[in-house]
Amino acid sequence: MAKQDYKQLLNELDRDKLPKHIGFIMDGNGRWAKKRNKPHLYGHRAGVKSLRQVVELGVELKLQYLTFYAFSTENWSRPESEVKGLLWLLKDQLKKEIPELMEQNIYAQFIGTSIGLEKNYWNEVSSLVAQTHKNTGMIVNFAFNYGGRLEIIEGFKKFMSMNPDKWDKLTPEDFGNYLWTAGQPDPDLIIRTSGEKRLSNFLLWQSAYAEIYITETLWPDFDKTEMIKALLDYASRDRRFGGRKE
Ligand code: FPP
Repeated sequence: MAKQDYKQLLNELDRDKLPKHIGFIMDGNGRWAKKRNKPHLYGHRAGVKSLRQVVELGVELKLQYLTFYAFSTENWSRPESEVKGLLWLLKDQLKKEIPELMEQNIYAQFIGTSIGLEKNYWNEVSSLVAQTHKNTGMIVNFAFNYGGRLEIIEGFKKFMSMNPDKWDKLTPEDFGNYLWTAGQPDPDLIIRTSGEKRLSNFLLWQSAYAEIYITETLWPDFDKTEMIKALLDYASRDRRFGGRKE
């Protein structure tokens, strides 16, 4: 399908069957760059364009929560030049996008840990996103220096420090309130690009009943048309949450 067909494809979408919260595992940047004989970082840079398109469509469709896996706690093991480049890209892009985030009334935040990041860097990126914290529209989480297992452990520690005498009262329903996504609904849909079929430590607790959509498309080629295809696929799913209809 030609890329310009996204508006046409949009007509097929039932707006009552949209997910509230979508998570994105933005994979395939390296392979996209390699195909063009370019360094890995070239792919990450191209990936920012896809992220922007997804956010734009999110605003158009009035989606409520988007979570992007931007940098995992395991990504530190990549070559130093790539790690430095990714951290720089994140800060630089964020700086450039603040006016647009404000214009679109988007609340942006990080979910992840500051451990391992330079204090100045963390303060700078935190104060950038803080500029959006009076906005009341779509919530965009950047999973940055994020690991699902770490989030669960940190959540448990938080619960214990706040409720030292109630350790045996912790329930699955309450536990979400101690995670970095506290107050947000669980993702209904996780989209992973580049054909890999893994969660890779992304939103482990929250994805218990998420629908998973895998596309062969590499992240830098993911655009509004690709996103609508994912939403159409999601709308066709029968979500049972472990139950069964008569
Ligand atoms: C995985 O592709 C992608 C990442 C580790 C980083 C994704 C980050 C961006 C798209 C930039 C984010 C920017 C902002 C402003 C949030 P890969 O490198 O593993 O690709 P490969 O599997 O093909 O090697």
